[in-house]
Amino acid sequence: MSLGESTSRAWLNDRLNNLMAQAFDSSTARTTVRQPARARLQALAAYVKRNQSFLGRVLRQYAWNTVNVRLLDRTRVVEPLSAIFYVTHRCNLSCHYCTQKYPDILSQEVSTEKTIEILRIVRQHLQSLYITGGEPLCRMDLEQVLEAAAGLGFNTILHTNGVLLDRREKVLDFIASLVISLDSMNEGRFDSVTQSAPGTTQRILSNIVRYGRHMQATGRPITINCVIDRNTVDDVYGVMEFCREHNFIFSCCSALKRDLTPYELLEHGGYRRLVEHILESKRRKRLKINGSLEELEYILKFKDFNCYPTLFARIYPNGDVYYPCVPLKTVGGNLFETPSIPEIYRRARAKFGEVPDCRGRCHLYSNITSHFYVHKFWNLAAEYK
Ligand SMILES: C[S@@+](CC[C@H](N)C(=O)[O-])C[C@H]1O[C@@H](n2cnc3c(N)ncnc32)[C@H](O)[C@@H]1O
Ligand code: SF4
Repeated sequence: MSLGESTSRAWLNDRLNNLMAQAFDSSTARTTVRQPARARLQALAAYVKRNQSFLGRVLRQYAWNTVNVRLLDRTRVVEPLSAIFYVTHRCNLSCHYCTQKYPDILSQEVSTEKTIEILRIVRQHLQSLYITGGEPLCRMDLEQVLEAAAGLGFNTILHTNGVLLDRREKVLDFIASLVISLDSMNEGRFDSVTQSAPGTTQRILSNIVRYGRHMQATGRPITINCVIDRNTVDDVYGVMEFCREHNFIFSCCSALKRDLTPYELLEHGGYRRLVEHILESKRRKRLKINGSLEELEYILKFKDFNCYPTLFARIYPNGDVYYPCVPLKTVGGNLFETPSIPEIYRRARAKFGEVPDCRGRCHLYSNITSHFYVHKFWNLAAEYK
């Protein structure tokens, strides 16, 4: 499954949120009582200038997608906007629903130098990097890899289970945003989800609070990713409350079963009540929740969508790039052999054909986001107005 990206949606959210927050902050700072409109315009102009390359890329892609994908129906292979780099498949936990950990997945890690070489290649086309795994902190060279990414000018999000953060806090120096997984505040239950030793959840919680504060104090967002499973449905309320208290961004999706949407959850009364609670919390802005209201409905009510998986390029530790996506288990090419993601996609499309129409197959954030990016761009954009 293309999991690490269950919150790669968080990437877009964080990136746009950061940008909008900057715009808003500067407009607030510069707005005067006499000329608020002018000051706001100036702030907007400054914001556009600061972020012109990213915004330009997003708008170019929007135009290209509108013409080639929506109107002319020429292809479903969209240009990548962000790279999701699974830096390892080793993990120190063993979440029962996870399919991205060794030994379910075997992908050879390469040396630090070669890993940085992968980053250099990716940076030729992309600026946004989502680091996930397995557990990224299982790599002893993660500090070097993240430092190199920062040096190359990446805007990096790190997705971790949080267990080892207190031993590796240096990693925080090189990232723009942090995502930590948490499905339950109930220690016994989450220890059992992660199949870990008693006390692990306690350590995760204390790391979340400690490093969450650190991220917030340095003006960077922290997101809590909550996977909803039949056994932990009732625990999600507690995770939401925890996020509200600490002003963390709450993100959620259901636990896929072998990469497939668990439609049977819709029969579960507790799940349906939870979904309404999440949607109502979003409507009433009770806490920060990842995604637009409509996106959340797609994610949680399992609505049909068109998937454009190449929007988020999935890269494995050895440089393999998946085409069209990880669940279909087809590798489009390897960055050491073909050092360009667009070129890998071109060749893979010739070899494997178009992105198939498998709507409803896996309701992950990134997949839903890809649908919105192509079909409901302004709904996404409105979320950050
Ligand atoms: C694969 S993990 C990798 C990063 C890190 N090890 C962690 O757990 O945060 C990335 C995210 O995928 C989520 N995830 C794992 N298995 C999933 C599944 N079957 N369905 C939905 N999300 C899943 C995890 O909870 C985690 O938030
Ligand atoms: S922490 Fe859990 S979800 Fe993350 S990689 Fe390990 S087993 Fe998978």
